[in-house]
Amino acid sequence: MQTFIVLLGPPGAGKGTQALAIAEKLDIPHISSGDLFRENLRNQTELGKLAKSYMDRGELVPDEVTISMVRERLSRVDCARGALLDGFPRTPAQAVALDGILKEFGSRVNWVPYINVPDEVLVGRLTGRWTCRTDPTHIYNLKTNPPTKPGVCDLCGGELYQRDDDKLETVQNRIKVYMKQTMPLIEYYRNAGVLVEVEGQQGIEKVSSDLLAAITK
Ligand code: AP5
Ligand code: MG
Repeated sequence: MQTFIVLLGPPGAGKGTQALAIAEKLDIPHISSGDLFRENLRNQTELGKLAKSYMDRGELVPDEVTISMVRERLSRVDCARGALLDGFPRTPAQAVALDGILKEFGSRVNWVPYINVPDEVLVGRLTGRWTCRTDPTHIYNLKTNPPTKPGVCDLCGGELYQRDDDKLETVQNRIKVYMKQTMPLIEYYRNAGVLVEVEGQQGIEKVSSDLLAAITK
């Protein structure tokens, strides 16, 4: 039996922060489309260079490119038990494509936790975020979740950096793009009977326990 979970929520909702605990608990890989694009960029691939031109503006990378990247990732052997998707799908076309890919595997999307956080909180979270260069799942915040030693990851000692798209102007556009292109997925998954809403404006551990309770009920 495979378990496929889609973490839904605006930029800064805490998808990446929560993914680590859920993926560990369910023993499935965490697949973040944003992290895959950033890895491609680090490796200077054509895909990475193309993605950067959209990411820097806070726009979405075209569906065709994104879908084929995620399709390839989902077909790897470590997804035999399922996967936790973070940041994909984020357009109706991507959601339909994901349903098709999973159908080929004889599977489906089981749960879609929607982490709900009001807009006004998101900007502060993103502009104060620091991420580990060694492992992008190690995420900090200057105000709410600071590292013990500034600039150094508590978990692995890696260097912390600020993402290029966490500049105020880009953040504001990412939120706009989310409202327009990704919000419709809330209804899509509610209609499919797999949406579970989680209050994201609570402490990180409380959000984790609410998420786990919702997807293992
Ligand atoms: P992506 O990397 O997916 O970014 P995003 O969706 O904008 O989300 P973030 O990673 O910014 O936020 P998050 O929800 O993971 O929050 P986090 O846990 O870090 O995408 C980047 C770009 O890539 C897109 O703009 C697009 O260009 C492209 N892209 C990616 N996927 C695509 C797709 N499918 N199609 C097309 N293009 C795509 O937390 C944020 C901060 O809040 C941290 O500082 C954290 O410490 C803090 N925090 C977390 N939880 C809490 C809490 N409970 N209380 C207080 N602070 C908290
Ligand atoms: Mg993230």
